[in-house]
Amino acid sequence: MERTLAIIKPDGVAKGLVGEIIRRLEREDLTILALKMIWMTKEQAKGFYGVHAGKPFYESVTNFMSSGPSVVMVLEGEGVINAYRRLMGATNYKEAEKGSIRREYATDIEKNVVHGSDSPQSAAFEIAYFFNELEIFKR
Ligand code: CMP
Repeated sequence: MERTLAIIKPDGVAKGLVGEIIRRLEREDLTILALKMIWMTKEQAKGFYGVHAGKPFYESVTNFMSSGPSVVMVLEGEGVINAYRRLMGATNYKEAEKGSIRREYATDIEKNVVHGSDSPQSAAFEIAYFFNELEIFKR
């Protein structure tokens, strides 16, 4: 069993896509083990995207991620990291597969509606960044 961190970003929450995205997760049998709404500070967003520090989009994406509430979730399932990445589609919505969340709802490479961990290592860091073990449902 694998876990991943999923985020519905401020643009997804503002567009009223929380229900639609959760529906897609449930339809694909990705189990939600934890879920909460948070409003990241700029500092929290910088820590979360620390691997991108120094890249041209770092300032802008951390401003965006602290611009409004997000929904953060822990998902579990076999191969959940890749299964959720397929549901999201490519980072750049113009390259995302037809029917994927980003292809349908993203408006911009930055405002791309959702985030998902890209490896087991980043999932472990990202889950622990927002949740303690007591907040994660044990099946
Ligand atoms: P995400 O998958 O959350 O990881 C980093 C985020 O930075 C990405 O989605 C986008 O929201 C944002 N971003 C903005 N510009 C770029 C870019 N050129 N390449 C990758 N990510 C970008």
